[in-house]
Amino acid sequence: MASATGSLRSDIRFLLGDEERSLRDVDPQMTVLEYLRLSERKVGTKEGCAEGDCGACTVVLGEPDGDGGMAYRTVNACIQFVPTLDGKQLLTVEHLKSEDGTLHPVQQAMVDTHGSQCGFCTPGFVMSLYQLWLDGGEDDRGAINDALAGNLCRCTGYGPIIEAARKAGSVAANDSAEQKRRADIAARLTAMVADEGMLALEHPAGRYFAPRTSDALAELLVAHPDATVLAGGTDVGLWVTKMLKRLDPIIYIGDVADIQSVYETEDALIIGAGVTYSRAHDALGRVASDVGELVRRIGSRQIRNAGTVGGNIANGSPIGDTPPALIALGAKIVLRMGDVRREVPLEEFFITYGKQDRHPGEFVESVIVPKPKSGLVFKAYKISKRFDQDITAVLAAFAIKVDDAGKVVEFRAAFGGMAGTPMRAKKCEAALIGKDWDEASLNAAQMALASEFEPMSDMRASKEYRMLVAQNLLTKLFIETSAPEVATRLVGKEAAHV
Ligand SMILES: Cc1cc2nc3c(=O)[nH]c(=O)nc-3n(C[C@H](O)[C@H](O)[C@H](O)COP(=O)(O)OP(=O)(O)OC[C@H]3O[C@@H](n4cnc5c(N)ncnc54)[C@H](O)[C@@H]3O)c2cc1C
Ligand code: FES
Ligand code: FES
Repeated sequence: MASATGSLRSDIRFLLGDEERSLRDVDPQMTVLEYLRLSERKVGTKEGCAEGDCGACTVVLGEPDGDGGMAYRTVNACIQFVPTLDGKQLLTVEHLKSEDGTLHPVQQAMVDTHGSQCGFCTPGFVMSLYQLWLDGGEDDRGAINDALAGNLCRCTGYGPIIEAARKAGSVAANDSAEQKRRADIAARLTAMVADEGMLALEHPAGRYFAPRTSDALAELLVAHPDATVLAGGTDVGLWVTKMLKRLDPIIYIGDVADIQSVYETEDALIIGAGVTYSRAHDALGRVASDVGELVRRIGSRQIRNAGTVGGNIANGSPIGDTPPALIALGAKIVLRMGDVRREVPLEEFFITYGKQDRHPGEFVESVIVPKPKSGLVFKAYKISKRFDQDITAVLAAFAIKVDDAGKVVEFRAAFGGMAGTPMRAKKCEAALIGKDWDEASLNAAQMALASEFEPMSDMRASKEYRMLVAQNLLTKLFIETSAPEVATRLVGKEAAHV
């Protein structure tokens, strides 16, 4: 049988600004930040945390959008590996100024508003502002906050930077020179990697493969069942920068074309494993606005532009944000090994802490999210110390249907942060189904919750706090479903921008 991987290529091809690069003999774990600063001596891009939190390393990646133009997104260079640049354009703060020395409008706006003091965070902010400028600019404070939530500044204060975002304006949507420039870049990138087979690197430090089809991915994983699957790298990147792990081989799924889409059927949403949070946001928000809002609060814009829903599930974290919401909605995942696929209800995928129902050589191919049927109300609540860019202490997700007589006819509840895995609260569900939706049933459901979870104490929250907050979130559900006129949310009521 012919191999699905096709021919192999051993150089990483991309554009650094407008200049072509073809790199050989690169350690596949070298980060984009290390490459920029150490190999290219482009030191505008800074290293702060090296874990995707501070935004000092923000760069913009451009890729052909499939319609002859370019799609741009910000990412954290500190946790992206160099081979993932293949077929893309990498733009850094050095690329913004014109050849005659004129500052880019976003740079000029930062000067005009005094948006920089020590300057360490400034290149990262400028790149996030540049992304806003490329996307058409923004005047809305909430949208600007969203775009900048992944950039920390410790001396200027955010007021002047937000003002710079407003002042910078944007590229005109009908600017024909800009459209031609983007079309030319897209054509160059497409030609650079066309018909040249799969990127396969053999380096003394480790191997790296970037299959282009899910058949090739399946074949590679059967051949290398111990490989590390790399999606957005927002977890895997930190294994390298913080835990100093060596990964060999790495199989990157970001170039696998047939798992990069979200399909919608009448009853469900099917999210390919390569789909980032940013690309899944709108469709998930249409399934239920609280899922959209939950996704909007994951990490920062840079993290959502890289991280995937598939990775959030596959990593098995007890505090991943999407699993409880997807469990409450009754989602399933499609696991694939070779040509064999199986569907697993998401709640059954998580066995115990650190152990998932995934065999060596198997990968998550897609996530199937049923659309709530008429009358089913979905609510999700993320409790964290900060509202944005923070890891969850407790996450509660509920899908409830109450009939005209006030009886609970359907109820699914799932929690994150309450056990070693994201978990469905079956005793709590049983305490409510068939009962009147009133305070007595609410109390019974809260008692049931206490009998089925034994949360942990850690630096995010004590076990007592976790239990109390989980019970209180049931009260919040009760108020929001029985007295919707009561204001229960200070911010984030509307699903906003990703
Ligand atoms: C600054 C920062 C903030 C964050 N904030 C949040 C947050 O608010 N909420 C939250 O839930 N998470 C958060 N995270 C964690 C992270 O973004 C998510 O877990 C993310 O969804 C992981 O997806 P990824 O595509 O980046 O996965 P990767 O890092 O590429 O992979 C994660 C794991 O999943 C495996 N994997 C990935 N895809 C597949 C697949 N298709 N099949 C089999 N295995 C696969 C990998 O081998 C690895 O074990 C944050 C991370 C950072 C760095
Ligand atoms: S260095 Fe802090 S996000 Fe990259
Ligand atoms: S200007 Fe100093 S950290 Fe932002």
